[in-house]
Amino acid sequence: MKRRALVAGNWKMNTTVVEATMLSQDICNRYYNDYDNVETVLCPPFISLKSVATVLDYDKSDIALGAQDVFWEKSGAYTGAISPQMLKAVGCRYCIVGHSERREYFGESNNDVGRKAKALLSVDITPIVCVGEGIDVREVGAGEALDFVVVQVAAALESIDFADVGRIVVAYEPIWAIGTGRTATPEIAQDMCAGIRACIADIAGADAANKVRILYGGSMKPENAASFAPEPDIDGGLIGGAALKSQDFLGIVKAFI
Ligand code: PGA
Repeated sequence: MKRRALVAGNWKMNTTVVEATMLSQDICNRYYNDYDNVETVLCPPFISLKSVATVLDYDKSDIALGAQDVFWEKSGAYTGAISPQMLKAVGCRYCIVGHSERREYFGESNNDVGRKAKALLSVDITPIVCVGEGIDVREVGAGEALDFVVVQVAAALESIDFADVGRIVVAYEPIWAIGTGRTATPEIAQDMCAGIRACIADIAGADAANKVRILYGGSMKPENAASFAPEPDIDGGLIGGAALKSQDFLGIVKAFI
């Protein structure tokens, strides 16, 4: 069974509110709402969520809104944090959690990632749970890389009710491929995504594992996206750099149609 593809643009800490509004408008102008078998998501910085939501609403666009992070509490004395309820109120349907940059620069642990995913599911926002090994692990071997990633997936799933596992999205993003111009080969990405799916099946059953969409991320571009799309366990992409240029981003979306 091939799942509906998902292509999400992670804008990271790029774009002012004005730039984000213009970029989302440009993407909408070039987007055809009949890309039925692929779902497209824009994840701008928090500060631009409302403006991008307004553009998508005004355009009656099929493109969904996503955030790049969240805190698990509903509200309260957590200076600087944003809750799942706030994301829901602004129209988010997706939220990235556990991106390697958050793990590295903000000390996010596997346990944090699980709590965030659970909190998002409770308000019906789909978590995009990021996992991926560094170059040090990859150089030891493919088996070690898979072991490393499986530990990250299992830790995130620990917090989630079994019945909800099928609703999550996992993004396999080898750290050595993020923003480096160096991509995993489609074979490496497929092997890792298949291994992740097998791990989910072990924990939550084959049905849930068959529903979970697993994305590849790491220097995906319009030129290489078509080589990942046919792989049976790769259900789309999480796009960083190329998501900031509307034509490049939509070139990747089209590769998954
Ligand atoms: P990249 O980033 O496409 O620029 O490599 C991907 C990501 O970090 O999500």
